[in-house]
Amino acid sequence: MNITCPHCKKRYSISDEGIKKIGERAVVPCPACKGNMRSSLDAAQAVDAQPAPDVEEAAEDNSLKSRLQQALMDLPAMPQAFDQARGLMVDAHARPADIEQLLEANPTVSALVLRLAGMAMYGDAESKNPIQQIIVALDMKVLTEFVILACASDLLARELSGYGLNAGDLWRHSLGVAYCARELATRMNPDLAEDAFLAGLFHDCGKLVLESFVAEQRESLLSLVQEEKQAFPDIERSIFGFDHPQIGADVCLKWRLPKSLTVAIALHHNPSKLEHNPLACVLHAADATAMMSGIGAGIEGALYRIDEKAMELLKVDDDRLGVLMVDAAGYVNRTMACFS
Ligand SMILES: [Fe+2]
Ligand SMILES: [Fe+2]
Repeated sequence: MNITCPHCKKRYSISDEGIKKIGERAVVPCPACKGNMRSSLDAAQAVDAQPAPDVEEAAEDNSLKSRLQQALMDLPAMPQAFDQARGLMVDAHARPADIEQLLEANPTVSALVLRLAGMAMYGDAESKNPIQQIIVALDMKVLTEFVILACASDLLARELSGYGLNAGDLWRHSLGVAYCARELATRMNPDLAEDAFLAGLFHDCGKLVLESFVAEQRESLLSLVQEEKQAFPDIERSIFGFDHPQIGADVCLKWRLPKSLTVAIALHHNPSKLEHNPLACVLHAADATAMMSGIGAGIEGALYRIDEKAMELLKVDDDRLGVLMVDAAGYVNRTMACFS
């Protein structure tokens, strides 16, 4: 601890041992001028014992924000093939030769696309077909979707132990939500179907960034989860000051996803917050359906709060929901078999 003699202004550094020795003595003489330094010592001790809380909180807040920035920067970029496939998806003039070129330039992606094509054509991921053959047999939309799945799998298949998700669980969940979102959108507004699939695939991407924070605070998080008083994103916000839908929007920016997806992902737990956002409502209903089916739920599963307004908008009856759950499970299993 540093103190300054109030009389001669000489500065001293006193060890903790030295402070103990001085103890409760009324007079602490300055070795240089012999003036009493008691008041300076008391003031310095008081400052040491009670560091200004707002300064400490601000520093903690800054370090949390800079760690978050770092975690976002550390998240791998979306492969280039993803942007190319999205470009082909919306290009009315795209030709089979374009997708062939894309696949030939990306061997890792094309190996997975061939497995997905084998599953789609023969129900067998192991069946080997040359690229030219699958291009003739399958629709351009289907092939670009396979490229997107191949690019997304590496990013979404990792273990998120903080969230109670084993390796592959988030991937399963994302596939289930993507499938349900596209089915629900097709019934409501077919123009939204492709965006709904993509939004479903990436809706929980914020968890990839928050994982290390959640893992560190798992005990506090679990005790709040067990109380079952708050929805999961509210718990995240109460502990970290931000939640995975919010951070998901930052990830969407990093991965250059369209604005409509970014907004829907930011709202996927409470779509009624912003009126007239059908994509967010579809995404929420799809997420709820996957959660009810237990597809990759993790610790969030028990706390899922369904936004009734969003569900009403979609007018999904119980029978339809039951069929959707079964179909989604089938789709997830078939697709997962191509990534094992
Ligand atoms: Fe979520
Ligand atoms: Fe989810």
